[in-house]
Amino acid sequence: MSGGKVLVVDAGGRGNAIAHAFARSPLVDRVYVAPGNAGSSMMEKCRIALSGGDPVREIGDIVSFAKKKGVDLTFVGPEGYLSDGIVNVFTEEGLDVVGPRREATVLEGSKGYAKDLLKEIGVPIPHHRNFTDPEEALGHIASFYAENPEKNLVVKADGLAAGKGSIVCASEEEAASAVERIMVEPRLFGDAGRRVVLEERLEGRELMFFAVTDGRTVFPLESAMDYKRAFGPGEEVAIRLYNRLSGDPNLDHNPNTGGMGGYSPHPWLDDDLSERIMGEIAVPTIRGFREETGFEYRGMIYFGLMITEEEGERVPKVLEINVRLGDPEAEVILPRLETDMYLLSRAVLDGELDSVKLKWSPDTCVGVCAISGRVVKPASSGVQEERPGYPGPHYTNMPIRGLEKVDPDVLVYHNGTAFGRDARGAERLFTTGGRVLTVVGRGAKLQAARERAYENIRRIRFNGIRYRRDIGLFP
Ligand code: AMP
Ligand code: GLY
Repeated sequence: MSGGKVLVVDAGGRGNAIAHAFARSPLVDRVYVAPGNAGSSMMEKCRIALSGGDPVREIGDIVSFAKKKGVDLTFVGPEGYLSDGIVNVFTEEGLDVVGPRREATVLEGSKGYAKDLLKEIGVPIPHHRNFTDPEEALGHIASFYAENPEKNLVVKADGLAAGKGSIVCASEEEAASAVERIMVEPRLFGDAGRRVVLEERLEGRELMFFAVTDGRTVFPLESAMDYKRAFGPGEEVAIRLYNRLSGDPNLDHNPNTGGMGGYSPHPWLDDDLSERIMGEIAVPTIRGFREETGFEYRGMIYFGLMITEEEGERVPKVLEINVRLGDPEAEVILPRLETDMYLLSRAVLDGELDSVKLKWSPDTCVGVCAISGRVVKPASSGVQEERPGYPGPHYTNMPIRGLEKVDPDVLVYHNGTAFGRDARGAERLFTTGGRVLTVVGRGAKLQAARERAYENIRRIRFNGIRYRRDIGLFP
């Protein structure tokens, strides 16, 4: 076959990385991205999916676009479209699409459901209980702490809360207050917190584990070390300023983000651990989901794991499931994929994943996210306005400069950018989000890849640009 047309559905940096992986296939001539961002149209073979000059966003419009252009295969990145049932709609229309059906997104969309299922099928998880009644949840907290004075709880809003729905507690008071704030007042995560999961807090090292499956065969993907906190070591002053501006009373709290960067391969995920995770977690979850629900899970999946130690042995336990690839993890994992992305996706669709061999480059990729940081802006009233920056309130629409100075071997995936006109009417690139660009350096060794990323990110400028300096250090 030649002349393949692929459609990637994703607005962010993960979507850029997926589109780039498809564009490397000799079987693919054109990669459309919906809704995409400015980066989607800056890669070879890639274009934003447009209708009447505007990016297509609604599922119905995306379907129409795919039909009109004769798209052969669609690949869906983010949980929003997946849980809205985009895969079901495409399938009903007779279009080939890679990603889990809506029925499977409950694994990410309801933490309580996922934990009940995993317990049922014998996948290791922390002890948990689900509650819809705050009084009962508070009662459980009191008896848990009376019986386990050495232990702690994590309080989780059951539903989707943009990755922020978990409160890791260090005392009974904190756990009780978390339940109050999620379920009663101020209902921190809205309806996502109508039900909560109270879960034993585990100690250990965290690991994100990615896999691909056609519903029967499950293959591990390469993994990535991630950096979730907004600030790195030595940034105490910036943390305090951030918290003063965002109104967090705990001035030393280093906030969580969707990810500030990462690198692949993962430094301590060895073959033994990977096999154990596959055998005890990934394979049983895919099989158990099929047997319990009758639906095959097809596509990418990632497990948030805690690697605990029990009698000197490493025991992985599942903290969360996500029905997709991570962002920015995809930006450092996918550039290392040497297997043809189109053939891999076809095999997932056709239930023939067992016929594929996944090949990875031995190189290391280091990705550093440039985010919209603190900006002081003169407001129109004459009073200065200041915003703390991502993950808190931040300004967008800042012109981006310097991309042309980036070396050709360094990848720049766009998380939040758009083309627009500056005051003189010239076309420019502007920021549109909290995370703006992910600069990916590559090298035979971590150190070299890290240097490539940092040498190049320094050439990029926009008002408020900030990035962690320690990606690739302190694993
Ligand atoms: P989640 O919303 O489940 O992805 O959790 C977000 C973060 O909270 C995780 O990445 C962990 O750092 C932490 N966490 C969640 N569950 C637990 C647990 N049972 N024990 C310890 N930490 C947890
Ligand atoms: N980087 C974490 C996520 O995509 O959920």
